[in-house]
Amino acid sequence: MKKSTIWSLFIFTIAGWVVFGETMISPVSTALSDQAPDGAKLYAVHCGVCHAQGGNIINPALPVKGSAKMKSLAVFTAYNRNPLKADGSKGVMPGFPVDKISDQEMKLIYEYSLTLPGTKK
Ligand code: HEC
Repeated sequence: MKKSTIWSLFIFTIAGWVVFGETMISPVSTALSDQAPDGAKLYAVHCGVCHAQGGNIINPALPVKGSAKMKSLAVFTAYNRNPLKADGSKGVMPGFPVDKISDQEMKLIYEYSLTLPGTKK
C-alpha cells in the first residue's frame, strides 16, 4: 500500500468517528436527560418564583433555608404535597400533587435545595 493510501484511510477513520460517533452518542445522552431532569431546573420552574436562593419573598419568616422540612426527603415530600403551617392551617404555598411533581422529581428538588447556601438537613 502506498503511503498516501494509508494516510487517507487514517483520515477517513478519524472523520468517521467524529461523524458517526456523535450520532451514536447523542440518542443515549438525550435519553439520559429525559430520565434525569435537573434539580436546579425543576426548582427554578416550581419553587424559584417564591423561593429564589432558598428565601421566601411572600413570607420571609418561612424560607427553605433553615426549614425543619429539610430534615428528610419524606418530610420534605409530605410538606410539598400538602403544605400546612405549623398550626395546621393552609398557608399561601400551593400543594404539588404527584401529577405536577413526581416522587423522582421531588427527590431531585430536595437534593438541589440542600445545596442552597444556608440550607441544612
Ligand atoms: C406561590 C409561592 C410559592 C411557591 C411556588 C412555593 N412556595 Fe414554598 N412557601 C411559600 C410560602 C408563602 C411559605 C410559607 C408558608 C405558607 O404560607 O404556605 C412557604 C414555605 C416553604 C417551606 C418552609 C416551610 C416551613 O414551615 O419551614 C419550604 C421548605 C418550602 N416552602 C418549599 C417549597 C418548594 C420545594 C417549592 C417547589 C416545589 C415551593 N416551596 C414552592 C410559597 C411558595
